[in-house]
Amino acid sequence: MNPPIRVAVTGAAGNIGYALLFRIASGDCFGKNQPVILQLLEITPGMKALEGVVMELLDSAFPLVHGVEISDDPNVAFKGVSQAFLVGSRPRTKGMDRADLIKVNGPIFTTQGKAINDNASSDVRVIVVGNPCNTNALIAMHAAPDVPRERFTAMTRLDQNRAVSQLASKAGVTAGAIGRMGIWGNHSNTMYPDFFNATLGGGSVVEQLGEEWLKGEFMGTVVNRGAAIIAARGASSAASAASAAVDHMADWWNGTNGAWASMAIPSKGEYGVPAGLIFSYPVTIEGGVYNIVEGIEHNDFAKARIQATVDELLAEREAVKDLLV
Ligand code: NAD
Ligand code: LMR
Repeated sequence: MNPPIRVAVTGAAGNIGYALLFRIASGDCFGKNQPVILQLLEITPGMKALEGVVMELLDSAFPLVHGVEISDDPNVAFKGVSQAFLVGSRPRTKGMDRADLIKVNGPIFTTQGKAINDNASSDVRVIVVGNPCNTNALIAMHAAPDVPRERFTAMTRLDQNRAVSQLASKAGVTAGAIGRMGIWGNHSNTMYPDFFNATLGGGSVVEQLGEEWLKGEFMGTVVNRGAAIIAARGASSAASAASAAVDHMADWWNGTNGAWASMAIPSKGEYGVPAGLIFSYPVTIEGGVYNIVEGIEHNDFAKARIQATVDELLAEREAVKDLLV
């Protein structure tokens, strides 16, 4: 057994939190030899519900759980943490775009970025799930000048998983037959799910499934899936979002063994994306370090899609410029 690591989860009494905590506690994220101390953050009105969630966590008797601490103070919740899941924030409801959440959710991430800066372990890694997650990660990163920028990431793994699932279902295979499914850009309907470079059974997805379906129904389903779930469930995706957050952090922890994983990360200008944006790229991960996959070719269709998602992220950055200290 390794010594325990401290793991922060914000919005821990919310819908995603309710699915996520039990996956982390059972060892799905950091492995069956890695004990955890969970440090859970809620706003004050959420503390009572959080107490109930903690009772359930304790009642599950997970051997890897070496402690559960709760607080409504970010400076307490982020104390000494090496892994931080930033989930807490308002979800959109029917008819809203994720970008509509900027004004209400943005300020949460200045406070939490500063608290991470001042309290977290020097090896902290952050995933932002709360929407609009790319720009919220940007805000948190700016509020944490002492933390290396590459530690701030946002979640597009759910989009990758959705794309993989659509391809597998169309081909009549299981998800494991799909490879190299990269998501580019923003976690919004401007994202570019790059089917041109994806593989099915090791061969080309385009050759096997056809460009017409891929450009039409496939893209439409993937980029609008969050809204479709809200329309059907009356609430935004939760269990699949928690599962994707586990995938993201587990891959960062364990490495990807050469496979591609999509993560929104601070761009240094790769593939012509303006430096500083939190932009989703396909990466491979080894030894806790992610590297953007190099040498990917983009045709004119892909270039136009990538430009559209860059433009949206630039507009979001402009909208929160007062928060980028
Ligand atoms: P929810 O409303 O069920 O839960 C959110 C929780 O966060 C609530 O318990 C609330 O009290 C808490 N909270 C609010 N402000 C907080 C703060 N400042 N500090 C700590 N906690 C705070 O929402 P949910 O379904 O769990 O979704 C959470 C967020 O995740 C939303 O913004 C949603 O849009 C986003 N999301 C992102 C993805 C993705 O792929 N990136 C997928 C699904 C959902
Ligand atoms: C999702 O993709 O399911 C989430 O980002 C929730 C949303 O608002 O779409």
